[in-house]
Amino acid sequence: MTLPARISAPPRAATPSAGFSAGLKADDFAALCELVRTLCGVDLAQYKRAQMERRVRTWTQRRGTPDLGEYGKRLRTEPEELDAFLDRVTINVSHLWRHEDQFEALRRSILPELAPKGRIRIWSAGSSYGAEAYTIAAVCRETVPHVRVEIQGTDLDKRMVARARTGVFTPEDARTAPPRMLERHFSPRPEGGWVATPELQRMVRFETGDLLRMPVPAERYDVVFCRNTVIYFTEAVRDALHQRLVKALTPGGYLLVGTSERVADPRGLGLTSPFHFIYRKS
Ligand SMILES: C[S@@+](CC[C@H](N)C(=O)[O-])C[C@H]1O[C@@H](n2cnc3c(N)ncnc32)[C@H](O)[C@@H]1O
Repeated sequence: MTLPARISAPPRAATPSAGFSAGLKADDFAALCELVRTLCGVDLAQYKRAQMERRVRTWTQRRGTPDLGEYGKRLRTEPEELDAFLDRVTINVSHLWRHEDQFEALRRSILPELAPKGRIRIWSAGSSYGAEAYTIAAVCRETVPHVRVEIQGTDLDKRMVARARTGVFTPEDARTAPPRMLERHFSPRPEGGWVATPELQRMVRFETGDLLRMPVPAERYDVVFCRNTVIYFTEAVRDALHQRLVKALTPGGYLLVGTSERVADPRGLGLTSPFHFIYRKS
């Protein structure tokens, strides 16, 4: 199967979204997207335009600069405004043990099957500030303590990657974590919240990368988690990303997507689906 070296979103500058661009003389939204891409590498054009444009315009109005051209000038000259803008438009929401039933599937079915390999490599694709990767690490420590497990987290947003490397989480991040697991694998911080134990920290690595463009190592990972990252992508971009992730899986490896997500053509990608959010590469 040949994979595209770079996934491009379908051209969209010529596709005004109803109610937002209509009547504008130039495509000021597309121009702002291009500016943001050059300033920080975040490509807003890969998201569904109507949702992203609504979010951007609501934000620029709240900041008192509704004209996108003028707002672009602020982004160029005010680094703190660029940070605030990225916080608003890229969705970094996560928490420990998010959708616990998925970690239960990892614990009960996937890890016992993979354990005889002796080494398991797992990729948290779209890792945000690391809650998913550390949850995976804790589940692996509990379930297959004698197996060498390496967990790679990748996110577009370098601020999230820096935060993930600290292993620090707020009480809010831990709201659905099983108390016994939290106490065994995280230490309470005097100022509140939790920090991952050194044992967990040794299992995880985080790097900045755009899942749509970075080189994808073939057949490297036994499990890929890509949850809640494609929801705002266009279908074409989402499908191409799933194709890339499947390429990264070892034969017999597992792809886990968000509970409300799906792979469009599992059979075409050589996948079976033992459960609705789990796919296995043949
Ligand atoms: C909602 S968070 C999901 C975090 C975690 N997977 C979870 O389910 O809790 C989505 C993350 O995907 C990242 N992201 C979005 N597009 C990306 C891309 N093209 N490449 C890498 N990361 C991306 C965002 O920066 C954000 O941190």
